[in-house]
Amino acid sequence: MPPEERGGALSEAVEPAAGYDGPRLAASGSVRVRVPAKINLHLGVGPRRPDGFHELTTVYQAISLYDELTADRADRLELVVEGEGADVLPTDENNLAVRAAVLLADHLGVPPRVRLHLRKQIPLAGGLAGGSADAAAALVACDALWDGGLDRNELATLAADLGSDVPFLVPGGTALGTGRGEVLSPVLAVGTWHWVVAVADGGLSTPTVYAKLDALRDAGTVPAEGVGAPDELLAALRQHDPRVLAAALANDMQAAALALRPTLARTLDAGLAEGALAALVSGSGPSCLFLAADADHAASVAARLTTHGVCRTVRTAHGPVPGARTTP
Ligand code: C5P
Repeated sequence: MPPEERGGALSEAVEPAAGYDGPRLAASGSVRVRVPAKINLHLGVGPRRPDGFHELTTVYQAISLYDELTADRADRLELVVEGEGADVLPTDENNLAVRAAVLLADHLGVPPRVRLHLRKQIPLAGGLAGGSADAAAALVACDALWDGGLDRNELATLAADLGSDVPFLVPGGTALGTGRGEVLSPVLAVGTWHWVVAVADGGLSTPTVYAKLDALRDAGTVPAEGVGAPDELLAALRQHDPRVLAAALANDMQAAALALRPTLARTLDAGLAEGALAALVSGSGPSCLFLAADADHAASVAARLTTHGVCRTVRTAHGPVPGARTTP
């Protein structure tokens, strides 16, 4: 196995569950699913709840950076990973895609027999929900492979057990997220938006960034924001004027990400200096996002940003795009 491709069998062959007679298994073939990264156009973080999560009001958008997951019939559950982070990503039950397959198999009452092959392009721990995307992809792929026939709402309900932003990655598009991020409402967003994504060297742990935000708020360094409806942003999405959207983008996590990784300020400044309409940290970071006026503008901001040496790599992307979908 080449070094950039890791993984293997997680278990011995799994015996069929009691009472399972096999008719739900798809007759043949492998299932390929493409799943996008997500960004948060608005990320309002409320107080920490008794269950440890924070109450959120967020506006998600799925963008055109993709992971691809292929699911094949197998006599056991195994995962192979190649691409971004393949050298460090777990391939056991600590991988959300594996957990998703097991959860779905339990739900359907079928044995979790599948070979998952994950080709990653979404950076790890980057604030782009790469792990959550893989979980959403595994739900969609395994449901098709095992002929589960679950609809998108049923998949999103299972997804909430895997992580707060996994449900969004099933429908994708643009959506309002409340609760801990798992309660979704549709958002009317007109047209396509163009983004530049600066991918940092190394990731940031989401719980660590939330804890830093709590600490900054406790110290009075950062105001404790409410989690009211992001009316300005929702109005901007209906107008489709990038300059209006630029003024409405907001991320409460940004102060905490910057406190943990002060060099991100240089990345944000570099993008603005090269003409981006807005700059913000993506989710819990450390990826940084820049809004561009159109595709050509995004390409030129990206090209110039690359020369600053303020991040590992720069990508362009557009959104909204659909969530986890089977592809030929
Ligand atoms: O839901 P998910 O597993 O992605 O969350 C990872 C961690 O991020 C949680 O364990 C929690 O520490 C933090 N989190 C939070 N509030 C949220 C979502 C996540 O504090 N709304």
